[in-house]
Amino acid sequence: MKKRLTILLLLLFLCSCSSKMDIAINENMESEYGKELESSLLFDQEKSDENLTVKEIKDYDNKKLGEQEITVVFAVEDKTQEEKVKVTVKDTKAPEIKLKRESVEITAGDGFNPASNIESVKDPIDGDIKKSDNSKINKNGYIIVSDVDTKTVKDGYKVKVTAYDVNGNKAEKEYTVNVKAKPEESVNPPTANAGSGGYDSNLDPYQAEPYYVNGILLVNKKHPLPPSFGALDPTAAAALAQLQSAAQNAGHAIPTMSGFRTYDYQVTLYNRYVAQDGQAAADTYSARPGFSEHQTGLVFDVGAIDNNFGNTAAGRWLRDHCHEFGFIIRYPQGKENITGYMYEPWHIRYVGVSVAAEIYQRGITLEEYLGVY
Ligand code: DAL
Ligand code: ZN
Repeated sequence: MKKRLTILLLLLFLCSCSSKMDIAINENMESEYGKELESSLLFDQEKSDENLTVKEIKDYDNKKLGEQEITVVFAVEDKTQEEKVKVTVKDTKAPEIKLKRESVEITAGDGFNPASNIESVKDPIDGDIKKSDNSKINKNGYIIVSDVDTKTVKDGYKVKVTAYDVNGNKAEKEYTVNVKAKPEESVNPPTANAGSGGYDSNLDPYQAEPYYVNGILLVNKKHPLPPSFGALDPTAAAALAQLQSAAQNAGHAIPTMSGFRTYDYQVTLYNRYVAQDGQAAADTYSARPGFSEHQTGLVFDVGAIDNNFGNTAAGRWLRDHCHEFGFIIRYPQGKENITGYMYEPWHIRYVGVSVAAEIYQRGITLEEYLGVY
């Protein structure tokens, strides 16, 4: 009798040890892409053991869309039990559209690509942007609707960008485009007086040789070029194109107003200014023929030939960024007695990126950099 009771007790003990927990697994478990699983939602608390907890989740991949089977280690106090649970990973997040700027400024008549202001269109899930079955969706996976008329000067044009992911989540972003009037082509001469002349009457461009210092061509009132010299420099022209495109991306229109000028063209220009303002004044802002840096082919007048250009957003951008493309503001404010010319915020000279960066950082002129005047 005693023996039988012992066996019964032993059986009861074994039975209780191996007994299964009450776990009411949630059959329709859904989870958001990229997120941790909410473990309390894996089972129905009402219908499960009241002390049931989730001890560990194995094999869960929150970046794998669709149904997957995972292993969950449930626990009641010290006891554990592994169960397979089906989880469906869903994507309900909209794609992300990033713009470079909230508003863009362009010059009337210039080309404009509305996509150039889009930094990126991405879905939180790689490659999940919908790219087909809608002819309006371009190859990058978004739709652009633009009412910009580049020929009509107006502020507040709208460009709307829409993107969908494969699950139909939609994102929208809008930006404004302001089309500004093309700057005046005519030259608006500086009015302040930086002192006239500065020329050595013995210097004759016809007898001159181009003057290079450490490989850098210096042209100023002391160092002329022979009339036959010069052509547009292709490296400088390519650097200018890059500068203008970066300016446009930053929301500034910096058109070219003047570039390479021949000796003969400078004759016409200089004579016109002398007739208009007298020689003393003309010498403060216009080079005599042979003495113009424009004849090097390394120089451009950009933005607007206007004293106020240096105070505009585009003028400030040019001052602070032109060195990144190898250019310097050749006639800075406060250096008139060194350069021999009035401040010209629009006149940039190509010297290459490293020289330009040093001149910009030190706040000096090309003459000071080369140590010759
Ligand atoms: N405006 C500059 C000085 C030139 O005529 O070359
Ligand atoms: Zn110039």
